[in-house]
Amino acid sequence: MSLKNDLLLRAAKGESTERTPVWLMRQAGRILPEYRAVRGKLSGFKELVETPEFAAEVTIQPVDILDVDAAIIFSDILVIPEAMGLAYEMVEKKGPHFPKTVTSSNDIDSLKVADPSELNYVYEAIKLTKSELDRRVPLIGFAGAPWTIFSYMIEGGGSKTFSKARGMLYTNPSDAHRLLDMITDTTIGYLKNQIAAGADLIQVFDSWAGVLPPNHYSEFSLKYISKICDAIDEVPITVFAKGAWFALEEMNDLSCNTVGLDWNMNPNKAKEVLKSKTLQGNLDPCALYGSFSEIEEETKRMLSQFENHSHIANLGHGVYPDTDPEKVKCFINSVREFSSR
Ligand code: CP3
Repeated sequence: MSLKNDLLLRAAKGESTERTPVWLMRQAGRILPEYRAVRGKLSGFKELVETPEFAAEVTIQPVDILDVDAAIIFSDILVIPEAMGLAYEMVEKKGPHFPKTVTSSNDIDSLKVADPSELNYVYEAIKLTKSELDRRVPLIGFAGAPWTIFSYMIEGGGSKTFSKARGMLYTNPSDAHRLLDMITDTTIGYLKNQIAAGADLIQVFDSWAGVLPPNHYSEFSLKYISKICDAIDEVPITVFAKGAWFALEEMNDLSCNTVGLDWNMNPNKAKEVLKSKTLQGNLDPCALYGSFSEIEEETKRMLSQFENHSHIANLGHGVYPDTDPEKVKCFINSVREFSSR
């Protein structure tokens, strides 16, 4: 069944498009009052993630309200450690917290490569969203990169230094590889099931790529992302590795279609290095704090940097929670207006 708007998929495959497709990382949740209204009726974040009807509703909100060219399924990267046996909590106004973390080999022994059916609620949410979207725009499925998931399992939450997770790469590299392998195998089964349920494109988020030195990034992160990319050949795949400007050359060897750039990265350099990849990004999310005319100018400037290269417009990271949805609409409309040939 063909999509009514397939700009994102065509751009991901490097095909030419009438204009540049646009969506925002973290567009579902975070900024919309309509999201908070649904969220406010529930016991918490997890009920929203685990109830397909609600997850589908908030997935579609940005398509209706912001007029983006793609939906991204409402879920979280942390459903993977939970399915492996390490449950997370979402603490109001603070973020994720793992009551138990991985501190020893025994802790790794007690985890498992999850059976994909543990995450049936995500596939059900995807099926429902696809049916309610009625082919309007593609639906993006996603997972965290193994290194980013590993960091949460070791640190138990966010961190300034990631010293526990990074430290383990020196003190116990073999256990680190053992856990990364388990996360990778779980993730591949999970993504295959997202695709079977209807995901049209997959994005892998390596949010904590930028904390590793280049040699460790190759060995403990890219190696596993590469395994995931090799296993997924059903739909286009995007790799977003925040802060990994030092690894662009190596990312060119990944069997992915699109590389996401954050706002620290130089589009001209990326265009040179990643000649046959589509590039996604990379407006600084803070640009959306500017006035409407400043947002137009910044968006134009960003678009011009990607000229003559296959491009999907986005921010350089997730939209910040205190961003005015009207400013987000201004960004989206600017992409539509200034990129149409
Ligand atoms: O993009 C989307 O809008 C789809 C849904 C989505 C969520 N999390 C929902 C969410 C996606 C793609 C994610 C990915 C995610 N989750 C990442 C990778 C992307 C990135 O931004 O780097 C990471 C690192 C997480 C972990 C996580 N989940 C954190 C750090 C937090 C707390 C603060 C925040 O909003 O980022 C969450 C909670 C979370 N995940 C919320 C939402 C809408 C807010 C929770 C709420 O409604 O109370």
